[in-house]
Amino acid sequence: MKGVILAGGLGTRLYPLTKITNKHLLPVFDKPMIYYPLTTLMDAGIKDVLIVTGGNHAGEFLRLLGNGKELNLKEIHYTYQTGEKGIADALRLAEDFADGERIVVILGDNLFGESIKPYTEKFAKQREGAKILIKKVRNPQRFGVVDFKDGKVISIEEKPKSPKSSYAVAGLYMYDSKVFDFIRKLKVSRRGEYEITDINNMYIKEGILTYDILKGYWTDCGTCESLLRANIIVAKKQGINLKNL
Ligand code: G1P
Repeated sequence: MKGVILAGGLGTRLYPLTKITNKHLLPVFDKPMIYYPLTTLMDAGIKDVLIVTGGNHAGEFLRLLGNGKELNLKEIHYTYQTGEKGIADALRLAEDFADGERIVVILGDNLFGESIKPYTEKFAKQREGAKILIKKVRNPQRFGVVDFKDGKVISIEEKPKSPKSSYAVAGLYMYDSKVFDFIRKLKVSRRGEYEITDINNMYIKEGILTYDILKGYWTDCGTCESLLRANIIVAKKQGINLKNL
């Protein structure tokens, strides 16, 4: 399986921090944010990675990660998204890289407190389709939210005002090669983006989307609050006693 890290966008919720750099290069405790999704993929045995970036600071990724050898990656590839047309639009650029193989897609601002290996291994055994990871959260309105019936996910709603459950869809998606056909069928959403949630709903309609519930912590870093939270989580994990600061 190959890995794709989506690290584009303007990160407007973090302005003015993101005026001078790409969101995914901001520090999360002692490392640039992108190290965390990269480590998550590598820990699952994925060593062939594509980074999709965009905006004004794309060159900085090359400065930071180079050809990936220092990080023990087999190959690191880069591509550039023009315009900010959403996560699914960024993923469109990964088709040649994927070359018919299954992919694990991770959002560059998502931090996972556990290994995703058990989930990717399960997905490798799945005959076809997609797998998502979900987690109970206090503020589902900020995320894609699942609706269940008889233990099955029957739909996902993007940032709903009245969420049908408190389970958010984490920014890590496992797809077979069908994903690129689905992207071609996508229509732009009300907020002017190609939504990853619409892709997942297409898999649900075909009856080939599975899910697992995350056991460890999971957070994104898209807002000042969640970025602070991510910093605190990582610092604590590294043994920093916040009370002593
Ligand atoms: C995106 C997705 C959303 C998902 C979230 C996870 O939202 O659209 O479905 O739950 O990532 O981080 P964003 O935070 O980019 O608006």
